[in-house]
Amino acid sequence: MTPLAVAQPRAALVFDQMARQYDDVFTNSMIGRAQRDTVWNALTQIFHSGDHVLELNCGTGEDALFLARNGVSVTACDTSEQMIQIASARLRKEAPGAPVRFNLLPTEQIRDLQPSTQFDGIFSNFSGLNCVLNLKQTAEDLATLISPGAPVLVCLSTRFCLWEMLWFVLHGNFRKAFRRCSGRATAAVGEFTVDVYYPTVRKLQILFSPSFVLRSCAGIGVTVPPSYVEGWIHNHPKLLSMLRTIDKTISGYPVFRVLGDHVLLHFERVRP
Ligand SMILES: C[S@@+](CC[C@H](N)C(=O)[O-])C[C@H]1O[C@@H](n2cnc3c(N)ncnc32)[C@H](O)[C@@H]1O
Repeated sequence: MTPLAVAQPRAALVFDQMARQYDDVFTNSMIGRAQRDTVWNALTQIFHSGDHVLELNCGTGEDALFLARNGVSVTACDTSEQMIQIASARLRKEAPGAPVRFNLLPTEQIRDLQPSTQFDGIFSNFSGLNCVLNLKQTAEDLATLISPGAPVLVCLSTRFCLWEMLWFVLHGNFRKAFRRCSGRATAAVGEFTVDVYYPTVRKLQILFSPSFVLRSCAGIGVTVPPSYVEGWIHNHPKLLSMLRTIDKTISGYPVFRVLGDHVLLHFERVRP
């Protein structure tokens, strides 16, 4: 069995466990909303009404439904059956007839999609790509699905998150404070575990070349904290709103942009 064939079911099992609570814990949290709003700002600038976008690791479908509300058709995929079930139920309830299709398909098998026409762009939000071991292969597969000039917007967890280091050091948990720094960690949910990889922006640029060039890079959640700080920030809504304003100012600056919870990269497909 290849390493990918082993890793893939493990990610699916872990996210199946999380699926029912995911929207409560992240999507609808104050911090989740703050971080996602920044990604949505970028989405509306890059994708336009009439586009057909491929979304990887779509989770419960929050972004696919947002894109559909903006006139964008979405083919959305995820490895977790539970996530896809929830996303499909939301589509039926919240936007029946919207041009969105949810597919149970791991990113490692995205080449099996074989669409009748090429996509206008590709999108991946909030760390699904951190669960993929062979991102070089993924980049090569994605290159076959879009034409030169098309955008790829990906949001991954960073290697170094300042908030995480400070928060867990202050709580005396040094292992968690620096868990990302080696570039690889194991996340556990119940009895299931999944390997999570934390490539740097430089590494991602190399992995996505030569078919893609990096057009821009911004931090997501630079002064806005990671979602596990929700309990504390919930009692400090004014502070969160201040941090959101600070993020708007500094998230594009070198250094700051790679020290947040996530980083948002805009690649463009080019002819190698
Ligand atoms: C943190 S959630 C993000 C979900 C969604 N993109 C969002 O913005 O809310 C990560 C998602 O990645 C999916 N995922 C993890 N590994 C994957 C893989 N190898 N292929 C496809 N999806 C994967 C999980 O099932 C989960 O839905």
